[in-house]
Amino acid sequence: MNKSSIYIETYGCQMNLADTEIVLGILQDHGYVVTKEIGKADVVLLNTCSVRDNAEQRIYGRLGNISNLKNVNPNLVVGILGCMAERLRKDLVEDKKIVDLVVGPDEYRRLPEYINIAFNGDKGIGIKLSRTETYDDIIPFREDGLQAWISVMRGCDKFCSFCVVPFTRGRERSRSLHSILDEVKQLSKRGFREVTLLGQNVNSYNDNGTDFADLLSAVAAVDTSMRIRFSTSHPQDLSDKLIYTIAEYPGLCNYIHLPVQSGSDRILELMNRTYNIDHYLGIIEKAKSIIPGVSFSTDIIAGFPTETYEDHLMTLEVMRKVKYDGAYMFKYSPREGTKSFNMEDDVPEEVKAKRLQEIIDLQQKISYDKNQELIGKEETILIEGFSKKSDQFFSGRTDTNKVVIIPIDHNIREGDYVKVKIDRATSATLFGRSVKSVKQDKKNMALSA
Ligand code: SAH
Ligand code: SF4
Ligand code: F3S
Repeated sequence: MNKSSIYIETYGCQMNLADTEIVLGILQDHGYVVTKEIGKADVVLLNTCSVRDNAEQRIYGRLGNISNLKNVNPNLVVGILGCMAERLRKDLVEDKKIVDLVVGPDEYRRLPEYINIAFNGDKGIGIKLSRTETYDDIIPFREDGLQAWISVMRGCDKFCSFCVVPFTRGRERSRSLHSILDEVKQLSKRGFREVTLLGQNVNSYNDNGTDFADLLSAVAAVDTSMRIRFSTSHPQDLSDKLIYTIAEYPGLCNYIHLPVQSGSDRILELMNRTYNIDHYLGIIEKAKSIIPGVSFSTDIIAGFPTETYEDHLMTLEVMRKVKYDGAYMFKYSPREGTKSFNMEDDVPEEVKAKRLQEIIDLQQKISYDKNQELIGKEETILIEGFSKKSDQFFSGRTDTNKVVIIPIDHNIREGDYVKVKIDRATSATLFGRSVKSVKQDKKNMALSA
C-alpha cells in the first residue's frame, strides 16, 4: 500500500467542501495519508471553483506559488479537482505545464489511478461527467466536530443563463434516502450537533418518489437534538409541503436561503430563473405566516446584461420588502459556454461596482435594524467554541443562523444549547449572556440551574 501524503485546498461553495471530504475518504482508503503541511506533501490538490472569474484567477495565482514547490521537489504531483477541471483541461495541462492531474467532480473514485499515472510521469486526466454518480457508499473523511455537511444531490438542471454549474457539475441526480440517513446516524453517534444538507437546488431532490420534504422529516427524526440546515432552495420548486415540514420539526432550522438574483421580472426572465417577483414574494409571505420567526438569506447579482437603473432599483425594493437577514452579493461575471455569455456584458464595470455597493450598504442597514429588534429577546444558541477574538467569550449560533457572543461560563461547554438574552447588536453579530445555565443539550430545551 502507498504511504504518499496528500495536501488539499478547497475553494468555492460548501458542495466543494463536502467533495473534499469524499476525495480524502477515497484516498485514505487507498493508503494515502492526509497532511496539513503543504511542504510535506507528495501530492498537492486544489479543489476549484469556476463560478466567477475572480474565483478562477485566485486558483491561477495559487498555482503560480505552488510551482515554486516543484522547484524544490520535482517529483511533486500537482492536481486540479472540481469545477475548473471540465472547462480548463487544455489550458491547465498544456499551457500551464505545472499541472499533472485534472480530475472533475464525477471522477473522484478513479483519483488513485490518475495519481499513479502522474507519479509515472504522464498526465492523469479524468473529466467525464456522470448521470448517476452520487458517491453513496463512500465514507467521507471528517475530523470530529459539531457541524457537518452532506451533499444530498449533485449537478443542476436549471441552466440559469449566467451560471456555469450545470456545465461543470453535469446533470442533476439525488443520493439515496437510506445512505443519507445512515450517514446522519453515524454523525449523531460521533457527537455532531448540526448537519447541513447540500445541493444546488435541494427542492428538486427525488429518490424514487421521496421528495425533499420527506427527506428533511426523516433526517430530523434521526436525532431530535440535532439541528438540520439545508441549502440551496430554488424559488420555483419550494413547496407548501416543505414549508409545513420546517414548521413541524423543531430540529429543522427556521432559516431559508432563497436566492432572488434580481428584483426585476425582465432580468429574471433573461436569467432563465423561471419565477417572477410576485411568485417569489408569495413564497416569502407564506413561509413567514407558517414558520414563526423564519429568517431568509439570498444571493444577488448586480449588473446582469441590459440591467437598467430602474431594474437595479427593483432589486433594492425586493430587499426592503423581504428584509433578508443576510445576503451574498456579486457583480455579474460572464462565463464562457453559458447562455448569457452571448449577450453583451454592457453594464460598465464602474456602474456594476456602484450598484453592488448600494446593495451591500442596504443589506447592512437591514441586517443592523433586524438585529436591533432582537435586543432584550431570548434565543437558544448552539455553542460552537470560543469567539474568534477572545477565549473569554463563547460564540454560538441561533436557529436562524445568527452569531451570538456570550461571556464564558464554567457550566457551559462546546456543543451545548444555551438560552441567552441579547443585550446589544451590530449588523453582523449579537452579544448577550446566558440566562439559564444549561446541562441538557437538547435543542430548545435549555434548562435552568
Ligand atoms: N444553486 C444556487 C447557486 C449556486 S452559485 C442557486 O441557484 O441559488 C451561487 C451564486 O453565485 C448564485 O446564486 C449567483 O448569485 C452567483 N453567481 C453564479 N454565477 C454567477 C455569475 N456568472 N456572475 C455573478 N454571480 C454569479
Ligand atoms: Fe446555477 Fe441556477 Fe443551477 Fe443555481 S439553480 S446552480 S444558479 S444553474
Ligand atoms: Fe464554484 Fe463549483 Fe460550487 S463552480 S460555487 S465550486 S459548484
